[in-house]
Amino acid sequence: MNRLFCRLHRNWIIQNKRNHREIKRMALTKYEYVKSFEHEDKLEPLQWIVIRLQLLNPKAFVDTETTSHEEWLRNTMLPSSQALVKEVNEIVLCYTYSNIVNFVFEKETTLYSRRASKLLSLITSYFSSCFTTALDNVKGVKSVPVFEGSLFLLPRDQCLRDFLSREQKDCHNINLEDTVFRNLVKVANFESSEALNRAKNSSESEKNELLFSFCNVNYNNEPPQNKKGTIFLKSVQVQTSAQNPESVCGNKRKKFVQIHEDFKKSNFWKSYFCLQEDTRLTSNFAYLKSFQRKNNILPHTWLVARLDGKGFHRFTEVHNFMKPNEDRALKLMSASAKNVMAHFPTILLAYGHSDEYSFVIKRYGHREKEGYSLISRIVSIFSSTFVKFWSEYFEKQDLLLKPSFDARLVFYPTNSALRDYLSWRQADCHINNMYNTCFWNLVNSKNMSRLEAQEYLKGTFSEDKLRILKDECGIDYSQDTPLHRKGTSLISQSGDDDNTCSTTYEDLIGDQFWVQRPWLLGNELKSKTDTQDFI
Ligand code: GTP
Ligand code: MG
Repeated sequence: MNRLFCRLHRNWIIQNKRNHREIKRMALTKYEYVKSFEHEDKLEPLQWIVIRLQLLNPKAFVDTETTSHEEWLRNTMLPSSQALVKEVNEIVLCYTYSNIVNFVFEKETTLYSRRASKLLSLITSYFSSCFTTALDNVKGVKSVPVFEGSLFLLPRDQCLRDFLSREQKDCHNINLEDTVFRNLVKVANFESSEALNRAKNSSESEKNELLFSFCNVNYNNEPPQNKKGTIFLKSVQVQTSAQNPESVCGNKRKKFVQIHEDFKKSNFWKSYFCLQEDTRLTSNFAYLKSFQRKNNILPHTWLVARLDGKGFHRFTEVHNFMKPNEDRALKLMSASAKNVMAHFPTILLAYGHSDEYSFVIKRYGHREKEGYSLISRIVSIFSSTFVKFWSEYFEKQDLLLKPSFDARLVFYPTNSALRDYLSWRQADCHINNMYNTCFWNLVNSKNMSRLEAQEYLKGTFSEDKLRILKDECGIDYSQDTPLHRKGTSLISQSGDDDNTCSTTYEDLIGDQFWVQRPWLLGNELKSKTDTQDFI
C-alpha cells in the first residue's frame, strides 16, 4: 500500500513538473534564448574519470594550538571520503592523504554522458557538506572549508596506475616534510622557522638523516596511513584471491575495505584492484597533466555561475519546509551566497530564489582562468556555509540529509545577454511562485487533492491565477512579499574590490534597477540589443 502511494506520488510529481514546465515554456520564451549560451561539457565514454578535491589553506584553517594538523585532517577527510564512496555507487576507488582526496569512477560508468561541471560540482558540494559536518568535532575552526576540484579523464589503465602512484609520491613527500618539521620542533626543540627551513630545503636522504640524528626517529616506523595515505575500495571484479582475504577481486561483491597499500607495487594491481591491461611501474608522471579537463574562461565576457539544489523536492519534504515558501531556507540560501561573495570580491551581483543562486562575476579584470576550479570553489563555499549555518536558521529541525548543489558556468558576451539572463531567472521565480501559491492555497484552503489542484490549474495564465487567488481564496497576490515574488538580489556596493554587499528584492527586468546602479554594467548600459533579434 505504502509502495503504491509512493508510486502515485512520484507519478504526480513527474506529471506536475511536466505541466508546469509547459506553462513556463510559453511564458519564458522572450528570454529563453539565453539558454543557447550554455554548453553541455560532456565527457567521452570508457575512460577512467578521476575527481580530485583539495582543501585550500588547511594550515590557516584550524587553530593548531588546540588540535594537531594530522589529527584533525584525518578525523574529517576519512569519514567524509567514506560517506561519499557509500553515497555514489559508481565510485570504485578513493585515495585520500593530507588535505587531498581522489575519487575514481568505474570505467563503464554512464556518468560520462552528464555534464562534466555537474559531476564535478555535485561531488565537490556533497564532500564539502560532509566535511563541514565532520568539523563539528574539531576545535579551533576559523572559517568554512573551501575545496578546489579538478577532473581527469584517463584513457588507459596505465594512466590510472601512474596517476595514483604520483599522488602517493606527493603523499610521501608531504608527510616526510611534516614529520621532520614536527619532530624538530617537538623533540629537538628547534625554532619553528628554523625547523621549517630545514624541512623544506633538504633532500629526502637529508630529511631521513635529520630525523634519525636529531630526533632518534626512523621514518620507516611511522604509521602506514601517514606514509601511504588511505585507500577505500569497493566492488572490483576478476579472479578470487584465496591468499588475500581483504582483496576485492572476485565476484562482484559490494565489499568495502580501507587499506594503506603501495600503488607502486604490482601486487596492488593484481590482488586488490585488477586492471584489464597489463601495467608496470613507471616514473614519468608529467604527461598526466594533459588529461586534466579544463574549461577555459573567455576574456571580456560576463561569467555567471548558477547553482541549483540537487533533489530539493525530497530535501524540502524531509525537513518539513513550509509550502509554498520556507523563509528560513530562502534566508539561509542568501547567507550562503553572501559568504561566497565575501570570498570572491569580483562577484558583482548574485540573484537567487527557490533552491538556486546565480553569481555574476565582473567581465573585466577578474583573474580567473579556469572554469572548473572556479565553480568548484564557489559550490564548495556555498555548501559548507549552508551546512554550517543550518542550525542558526532551523533551530528545531536537525539537518537529516547532506545538501548538494549542481553548478554550471556560462559566459555572456554582452550586457543585454546578461540582463536577459537575469530577467529569465526572475520571470521563472515569478511564474513558479504564482503557480505554487495558487496550488497550495487550493490544496490547503479549498480542500482540493494535489491532483485536483493540478488539473484545475492546467492551461491557466497569470491573469487566471490572480483571479483564482482573489475570488476563490480571498488572497491579493500583490500583497505577497517581494522576497517571494521577485527573489533576492545581493549587490556589491560599489563595484570596487571591497566585499560589502546589500540585499534587495527589486525588479531586475525593467531599466530602473540598472540605471540606479551604473557601476554594475558600466558605460555599456546603452548597448542593449533587441531580444527579438535572437528569437
Ligand atoms: P533537481 O534540481 O533536478 O535535482 O530537482 P529538484 O528536486 O531540486 O527540483 P527543482 O530544482 O526543479 O525545484 C526545486 C524544488 O525545491 C521545488 O520543486 C520544490 O519542491 C522545492 N522547494 C524549493 N524551495 C522551497 C520552499 O521554500 N518550500 C518548499 N516546500 N519547497 C521548496
Ligand atoms: Mg533543484
